[in-house]
Amino acid sequence: MKVLVTGGAGFIGSNFIKMLIDGNELHVVNLDTLTYAGNLENLSSVEASKAYTFYKADISDHEEVCRIFEIERPEFVVNLAAESHVDRSILEPGIFVDTNIRGTMNLLEASKKYGIKRFLQVSTDEVYGSLGKTGYFTEDTPLAPNSPYSAAKAGADLICRSYQKTFGMDIVITRCSNNYGPYQFPEKLIPLMIFNAVNDKELPVYGDGMNIRDWIHVDDHCRGLISVLKNGRTGEIYNIGGKNERTNIDIVKTILEILEKDVSLIRYVKDRPGHDKRYAVNTDKINKELGWKPFVEFSQGLKDTVQWYLDNSEWVQHCISGDYRNYYRKNYENK
Ligand code: NAD
Ligand code: TYD
Repeated sequence: MKVLVTGGAGFIGSNFIKMLIDGNELHVVNLDTLTYAGNLENLSSVEASKAYTFYKADISDHEEVCRIFEIERPEFVVNLAAESHVDRSILEPGIFVDTNIRGTMNLLEASKKYGIKRFLQVSTDEVYGSLGKTGYFTEDTPLAPNSPYSAAKAGADLICRSYQKTFGMDIVITRCSNNYGPYQFPEKLIPLMIFNAVNDKELPVYGDGMNIRDWIHVDDHCRGLISVLKNGRTGEIYNIGGKNERTNIDIVKTILEILEKDVSLIRYVKDRPGHDKRYAVNTDKINKELGWKPFVEFSQGLKDTVQWYLDNSEWVQHCISGDYRNYYRKNYENK
């Protein structure tokens, strides 16, 4: 069995590929253009495996995508490649449309042409928009994205829907909540706060810090993706979430406690424009139909994640060199 994974050098993609190769007799083809967020170091444990092939390629390049399908003839496609950071989408939205929408369409076109068995689109709960104090996103919640990132992901979901309805392709979509764990690029909340706290730098909390996210360990998300890829029903959407709502300030304070650092490092800064207040995901469908549920307990998962970043400071140093410094300055200088 051959699975083409896009974005496999990123945070979730690299954890997913390692899980696939460890657990199954299948071949993984990783297609990744290696943006700032893509790092082949994440995959050093599998790069010599016969079950793994890598192509450096851009999903928004239709010819290149078709060339790889022609050579590899994958049976399954799992699309994780994306521009994934909300703050970057506010600074530079164009690339989000190119990769997340056009890139997804190119993959669908190639999948149609080469007759793949199943296409899994890895989406996000952010396509549903923002919740108030109560309620949960279900798979029937109307799409109401608020950032260029989530709008581009919603666009990709709709293109997938149209290829399923119009061309009868076997397409499934997952919508997961916020992931944490090893190999997450240090622009996202948890690794950024760990890095800054370790280095006694200020921790920039947007607004009042009371926005809520539903955190899930990346391994639980990857297990959910495998369940849906194997047993999800054609044309269906499956939410994946951690049943673990936390305010941002709670997360930040917990990280400071784990690292035994002082709360005086916290700095409340100007809020993110269009900042979604609360995400919370109802996961009854994937639980009832596929028997999936999250396993990793958050306080232990967070401690392990902090320890991973402490043990892998060289990996972090590689991430934050070059372009990342320019982004950090641009995003935080006027806050
Ligand atoms: P990431 O930014 O860590 O990794 C993205 C990967 O995609 C990188 O390796 C990058 O090089 C690659 N990529 C970007 N543009 C590309 C292009 N044009 N062609 C080929 N490769 C390209 O992102 P992540 O956090 O691992 O997220 C992976 C997927 O999961 C995304 O689709 C994201 O929307 C979705 N998702 C993420 C979360 C989360 O909390 N991180 C939650 C739900 C869904
Ligand atoms: P993030 O990790 O960017 O994920 P998303 O925006 O996709 O949910 O942010 C998680 C939450 O943390 C979000 O409410 C914004 C907030 N946040 C800060 O308060 N400070 C920061 O420096 C960052 C990056 C995020």
